[in-house]
Amino acid sequence: MVEPSVTDVAAVEMLGVTKSFGRATAVDAVSLSVRRGEFFSLLGPSGCGKTTSLRMLGGFIVPDEGTVRLGGKDVTRVPPYKRDVNTVFQSYALFAHLSVAQNVAFGLKRRKVPRAEIARRVDEMLALVDMGDRSRAMPAELSGGQRQRVALARSLVTMPQVLLLDEPLGALDLKLRRQMQVELKRIQREVGITFIYVTHDQEEALSMSDRIAVMNCGRLEQVDTPDALYARPSSAFVAGFIGSSNLLRVRRTGPGAETAAGVLLPLPSDAPALPDGSAFDLLLRPEHLLLDPTGDVAARMEGTITDTVFLGSVTQYRVRCANGLELMVSEPNTSSHHAHVRSPGTRVTVGWHADDAVALPTGLPDPAPAENAATSQ
Ligand SMILES: Nc1ncnc2c1ncn2[C@@H]1O[C@H](COP(=O)(O)OP(=O)(O)O)[C@@H](O)[C@H]1O
Ligand SMILES: [Mg+2]
Repeated sequence: MVEPSVTDVAAVEMLGVTKSFGRATAVDAVSLSVRRGEFFSLLGPSGCGKTTSLRMLGGFIVPDEGTVRLGGKDVTRVPPYKRDVNTVFQSYALFAHLSVAQNVAFGLKRRKVPRAEIARRVDEMLALVDMGDRSRAMPAELSGGQRQRVALARSLVTMPQVLLLDEPLGALDLKLRRQMQVELKRIQREVGITFIYVTHDQEEALSMSDRIAVMNCGRLEQVDTPDALYARPSSAFVAGFIGSSNLLRVRRTGPGAETAAGVLLPLPSDAPALPDGSAFDLLLRPEHLLLDPTGDVAARMEGTITDTVFLGSVTQYRVRCANGLELMVSEPNTSSHHAHVRSPGTRVTVGWHADDAVALPTGLPDPAPAENAATSQ
């Protein structure tokens, strides 16, 4: 047997991992593979199984079924302290009676690293998290964001293969959170350690991750890069969870798609070949809809603005179309001199290019035609 080279081995793998609590399945047959040095996020709504997945990677929960591998080695039943993995939680449990430097030195002392080396590595790590000037401070003297930097330094100083982070910015206010997101990404790039980051905040996941696994009810919906998740979601759930969207339930009708109200819409050229009558969802991102388009567009419908929200860089409109469709439209304000905000009541034409729409499977099987149902009995 040919051994895979070290660089080919995935940093983290889950193979058919399942975990139930009583009758509820928290994590359902999840398989994924994370590359070395990757910033990988688990994203999904509360209760979808993110923390349970992370705790199985850390060794705090043993899966009912499936295998967990770290660096190619089966660790499914290996206890946390024997895994080369550290975890950062939302509440950064620093030792209150130890200074910042002593907190960071803790893991190295326990490993009997020589004193001079401890001092050097603690200094390096505190500089990396921008806390070099607070090494003598006690945790009680620090802000939430600073405590978190110390917690991060403490988890990174032993250079684990993988760092697991469970909503580590959840307790910070929005502005500090945005700032820490940029910092975390920079730190991860500098240390080159594989990060597995749990969040329910899509913007957070999009802004930091190399790849994102979107979870829903214990299952993986899609694993992809942020831009691919946004541009080519594989399900209506992912489309709805990542960014804002107009999702229209339609049926294949000849060359196009027909809404429940009988409006015929053009299909993107890459739409899957579905038999006539089959149901699917058509995704239209608000920023791909054009108001009063001047050029050639495949779809064009008349409507009236019912709601206007000016957000500075963009203006968001709700448009009720004469054919019954209601669409969210987002228009960039590209010039400060010509910011043209339309008031509610304004009549507009909404248009889009056929290929800006994305056809999505509904996730629900189509009701079988009557004759098929009869033969299957
Ligand atoms: N120790 C536990 N005992 C019973 N149910 C649990 C336990 N931990 C998690 N769950 C349940 O498993 C599901 C997934 O939880 P969790 O992994 O914490 O989700 P998330 O982190 O995505 O919010 C939820 O329905 C939750 O109530
Ligand atoms: Mg959680």
